[in-house]
Amino acid sequence: GTTVPGFTLNGTSPGPLITVTQGELLEVRLRNENITDGTTLHWHGLEVPNGVDGVAGVTQDAVLPGEDYVYRFVPTHAGTFWYHSHQVSDPQVTGGLLGPLVVLPASGPTTDAELTAVIHTYAGRRTLNAQLHHPAAPGSSVRIRMINTDPGPMPVWVAGADYRVLAIDGRDLTGPTPVRERGLTLTAGARADLEVIVPEGGARVQVPGAGIVVGEGGPEGTPVPADRVDLLSYGTPAPLGFDPEHAARVFDYRIGRRFGLLDGRPGLWWTINGRIYPDVPMFMVREGEIVRMRISNDSGDVHPMHLHGHHITVLSRDGVPATGSPWHVDSLNVEDGETYEVAFVADNPGVWMDHCHNLRHAREGLMTHLMYDGITTPFLMSRHTGNRPE
Ligand code: C2O
Ligand code: CU
Repeated sequence: GTTVPGFTLNGTSPGPLITVTQGELLEVRLRNENITDGTTLHWHGLEVPNGVDGVAGVTQDAVLPGEDYVYRFVPTHAGTFWYHSHQVSDPQVTGGLLGPLVVLPASGPTTDAELTAVIHTYAGRRTLNAQLHHPAAPGSSVRIRMINTDPGPMPVWVAGADYRVLAIDGRDLTGPTPVRERGLTLTAGARADLEVIVPEGGARVQVPGAGIVVGEGGPEGTPVPADRVDLLSYGTPAPLGFDPEHAARVFDYRIGRRFGLLDGRPGLWWTINGRIYPDVPMFMVREGEIVRMRISNDSGDVHPMHLHGHHITVLSRDGVPATGSPWHVDSLNVEDGETYEVAFVADNPGVWMDHCHNLRHAREGLMTHLMYDGITTPFLMSRHTGNRPE
């Protein structure tokens, strides 16, 4: 009911749903009509070649008004993803320069129907961008792809039916069991694919203040469930595909906060291993190495940590080992006081951002890079989260 200033793609925000089948070549032409700061598109959660990662100042220059830029890649994994600007991303992403991207499995769908829902807050108003009433016959299965494009964690839940968490961050979970009257915390930047078997009378997929009806109806106005699904123990174990005990590198990513100078400006800034951006560690790896990282947070705030170009596998949280399905993520909710042990295989050479997806925090220095040995970049980062024309 209100109009707010913002950014659009093809005239809308969120931008168009991009659907592609796993293994197909995707080509997207970005044309900047009139964003004076320039813009880019980053493919959040997709393991694209580094050159099309869309990070201004790292993998390309920002695309200025009147300019074009073509992204071309083959999605390797089926799942739910999204795209957004990576030039002065706060305020561009906050202002709506984003959209959903779905990679369909080459083997065909596993549910009878599906829908995609983008959660985004515009000028203080939470919105759920989806087909808000999805007619479906009782007994049929529906996959609901939830995408949290906001800077903070978002509870999602289903009222009137059990649900299963089929996938997180574009990676299927093994052995997902039905969940009842429990919510799921969707990390900033993260995606969850929920499966609902439509009951007689219907169900409602909820975020605080908004919902999607599947089937006939479903209970309205249910409160946020106090209980949450813990992905550390959800589902059944399966091989990780690599052995984290054979790590060639072990890194610490300690998040803190202190007074200091960021780019000459005094303030209370985020720190990584005690240091303020840009004087922060760069994590150096070689292709093929197994990497372990210990992400700890002592900063007084939650940080949704996001590594580009890779999925990380959660090994433990606060010393409690993961016992459920392999939990592969690109966006990890690290609460104040928490410590996560994660691991990944360095299998995608390049220079990759590793930052907080509360993009204001990134601008305030909570960002660094994962860098492969022998790789350089001709692009230059300037202040904040972008490059030219500043
Ligand atoms: Cu979704 Cu570096 O971003
Ligand atoms: Cu943060």
